[in-house]
Amino acid sequence: MSTFAKTLIAWQREHGRHDLPWQTNDAYRVWLSEIMLQQTQVDTVIPYYARFLARFPDLPSLAAAPVEDVLTLWSGLGYYARARNLHKCAQTLMTRHGGVFPADPALLAELPGIGRSTAAAISAFAYGTRAAILDGNVKRVLARAFGIEGFPGTKPIENRLWELADSLLPATNVDVYTQAQMDLGATVCTRGRPACARCPLADVCVALRDGRVAELPTRRPK
Ligand code: ADE
Repeated sequence: MSTFAKTLIAWQREHGRHDLPWQTNDAYRVWLSEIMLQQTQVDTVIPYYARFLARFPDLPSLAAAPVEDVLTLWSGLGYYARARNLHKCAQTLMTRHGGVFPADPALLAELPGIGRSTAAAISAFAYGTRAAILDGNVKRVLARAFGIEGFPGTKPIENRLWELADSLLPATNVDVYTQAQMDLGATVCTRGRPACARCPLADVCVALRDGRVAELPTRRPK
């Protein structure tokens, strides 16, 4: 296993978040959380997530509801295409997948509102499938730890980061590893004022070694 993965898994167990309401293997609950968390912070999502599950406790209840009811529960979260896709996705899962989330991230990524990284997160958390995530937080962690230059919003840099993310994946404990990257990006390797003094990757971080933490990841060119 990569030192990177080993270090992150050990760190998650000791210092990561273990009390988030979506830490379960129920694919429906994991999926709902990942969609809400795509563009919204954890603290904002928590009450919406609870209200949503109280009204739509499972996939069949969501698929059968009028889309207006879904939008009402989403109201305030923003990015309403997420709610429309969520509803459409629930209906597709009921009609074409027998109401069961596929464990294969490639199949998940064909569903409305589920991109490659979200598909990987859902399959890792719900089924333990070995698949790499690459969201904004993970791009920042990788760019700093490995000293990757260039704006990650471009295809060539993004492709490099996906390759790196794939190469670092551990063979086991992919769920813990995935949560570790999210936790590190959210609580330590933050965009502004990262807490390098308590970072488990401080010994190996290229950006920290070279005094370039504030410069990486490279910002969008003007
Ligand atoms: N952001 C995206 N997915 C997350 C998760 N599972 N936990 C915390 N933050 C997240």
